[in-house]
Amino acid sequence: MREAGHRLIETVVSRLTTVAAGPPHATATPARLRPLLDEPLPEAPGSLAEAVDRVVRDALSHGIRFDHPRCFAFVPTTGTYPAVLADALAAAFHSVPGAWLVGAGPTQLELTTVRWLCELLGLPAGHSGLFLSGGSAANLTALAVARDDRLDGEGVPPGARLYCSSQAHPSVARAAHLVGLRRTQLVVLEPDAELRLPADRLRARLRADLAAGLRPFAVVATVGTTSTGAIDPLPELADICDEFGLWLHADGAHGAAAAITTRGREHCRGLARADSVTVDPHKWLFQPYEAGCLLLRRPELLRRSFAMDRHRLDTGYLRPARADGEEVNLDDYGPQQSRGLRALKLWLSLQTFGAEAFRRAVASGTELAEYAADHVRAIPGLELVTPASLGILTLRCVPAPGRADGPGSAGAADRLQEAVSAEVCAGGRAMVLTTDVRGRRALRLCVINPATTRGDIDETLALLAETGRRAHAAAPQRTAADGRRPGS
Ligand SMILES: Cc1ncc(COP(=O)(O)O)c(C=O)c1O
Repeated sequence: MREAGHRLIETVVSRLTTVAAGPPHATATPARLRPLLDEPLPEAPGSLAEAVDRVVRDALSHGIRFDHPRCFAFVPTTGTYPAVLADALAAAFHSVPGAWLVGAGPTQLELTTVRWLCELLGLPAGHSGLFLSGGSAANLTALAVARDDRLDGEGVPPGARLYCSSQAHPSVARAAHLVGLRRTQLVVLEPDAELRLPADRLRARLRADLAAGLRPFAVVATVGTTSTGAIDPLPELADICDEFGLWLHADGAHGAAAAITTRGREHCRGLARADSVTVDPHKWLFQPYEAGCLLLRRPELLRRSFAMDRHRLDTGYLRPARADGEEVNLDDYGPQQSRGLRALKLWLSLQTFGAEAFRRAVASGTELAEYAADHVRAIPGLELVTPASLGILTLRCVPAPGRADGPGSAGAADRLQEAVSAEVCAGGRAMVLTTDVRGRRALRLCVINPATTRGDIDETLALLAETGRRAHAAAPQRTAADGRRPGS
């Protein structure tokens, strides 16, 4: 055990400290990976150390390196070394913050970590919640509670309506489906010019839906849309929800973390008025997967939806594990019974680095995105599409303004962005993918890695501009690159 463990720690440390030396994305075709990994069930014992070496080489090394300083795709997380150790510790101790009887210490540790998270975000005392696998699970859990609280716990009547903007994360639509809403019951509003859920349009739609006899019950606001980092107007939306008696869920999977900084808290104004908040420590709080969190203004409502004895099934075997007095059974507060101690990652990271280091790291991501946006404005051949918001900016290559981007050539301009993304990713210096902004393709940078420097930004923007010029010049021959997926 020790020998394999020491080797493994060497591998972990080497992975964490040398990531910048390689490309931000390494991939392989199924034709290459299948012969390496799709092997028969091993009946006989083998060497643990050899298996570790092999899995690192043949499996774990093929994928996106989110912690690479020039990986700007999706929401790149960095992870911390204490968090890696935390996952191993939690596994070794079979830590289950489910029933108090099963995991008293782990449960208290999770409750404390949740309280710290609330404090970091500026949420008042009384807020609490639990750790989940990520933003999708947190959004699902929130909507289940919203449904049960606002629709009398009796399922979803046909008139029930949930509201969000088209910029909400797709996990919201999936959660709506899973809590029993039909497609038409999720009302998707077009965003305003800043890509935010428009409060006035929401109010008008609510009035019309109520007049038509429908039953609005909840609104999902996004605090940092994944595409552009847009922040829905929480204070206005909270006013509307108060007025109409609706549940307000804030999906801050990516962006709520900004509230741990002074400036970010101003951007996230109104967060405390949401009935529920999703925040993902595995995004902008630098934890490895899986670490999502749901925080509620009235956390006791979780029990109403998730208590194990809510339904009339025989729970006799659970009787010895009933919570007594001040004991808490977190398996009554969410969809999982056996649960891993995800909170330990954040707990150990906070113990090791201190909260101030987290604030500085989040602030540096915000500032770096602003630096990048300013730089885009100054570089010929690039144009800023959306300004830096919560560490995200979008831009476009415009090597010949008025030609590639001119009237009637939107398709060509879109293809140019895709070609630039594909070429830059394939080159191995940076990972930049595209998104759609107001129906047009744009390059998207999420700049939240504390290891990313201004030099990384300068290099990447210069590369994008230069690639844009070259791809534009080669436009007629570009069809081959068009079908190529970035990184392939
Ligand atoms: C705003 C938002 N909500 C939800 C999610 C889903 O989170 P997860 O991938 O952790 O399930 C994401 C993921 O990027 C997100 O950006």
